[in-house]
Amino acid sequence: MKVIPTPKALKKVLRNHNGSIGFVPTMGALHEGHLSLIRESKKNNEITVVSIFVNPTQFNDANDFKNYPNNHAEDILQLASLKVDYIFTPTKRSIYNDNYAYQIIENNFSKELCGTARPGHFEGVLTIVMKLLNIVNPTRAYFGEKDYQQYMLIRGMAEAFHMDVEIISLPTIRENDGLAMSSRNLLLGKIERKKAPLFAKLLKSDLSDEKVKIKLSKEGFKVDYISTQNGRRFGAVFLGNVRLIDNVEK
Ligand code: PAF
Repeated sequence: MKVIPTPKALKKVLRNHNGSIGFVPTMGALHEGHLSLIRESKKNNEITVVSIFVNPTQFNDANDFKNYPNNHAEDILQLASLKVDYIFTPTKRSIYNDNYAYQIIENNFSKELCGTARPGHFEGVLTIVMKLLNIVNPTRAYFGEKDYQQYMLIRGMAEAFHMDVEIISLPTIRENDGLAMSSRNLLLGKIERKKAPLFAKLLKSDLSDEKVKIKLSKEGFKVDYISTQNGRRFGAVFLGNVRLIDNVEK
């Protein structure tokens, strides 16, 4: 396993590779959700590249960026034990060589759900993913369904720009109590962590979106949105300062 810190160096090693490349982009603080994507990539591709980069442009709140969990040493150990081929760890300077002058903007779905409360979020996500895909040039790229809106937008971007990459999504991995695995769960206090599974439980329930909102608010969640569309119920809530998102088939 090699850790490669610059776009130029990664492009150079991957240029000499002829077989299929699986790619799993991450912001680190790896959990079983990420590991399931990596295992799937390893199963179906000759080599697997994982990126770790906490992308500043997708955070609309400076404190949220500052507090984003970082488990770098442990992440590297986990990736070594999974026998990932390359880990890409760019710096902001090396990947935003244009100082974010160029951006990918989607004008429809990115303005809904998480896009309403987090202005600029999906521009940051799509721009970094476009940059990463251009650097790695993978055969397949893997994303978790917990971020379903993100997955749909990335899939749409790959189609819109005629990109030669298969965008693959895999099901959300959940804790035993139903809470969707997320790096942000590490930020929950004891009481909040105990309360958190109610979010998934109510999303899955037969209650209307409005009733789910009311129940969550009563239990101390600050609800951003609960919305059923395209055969899924999407939700975003705050528990204290921690924003959780989830979605379930409906
Ligand atoms: O889902 C994430 O972890 C991030 O949004 C991604 C896709 C790695 C882009 O920074």
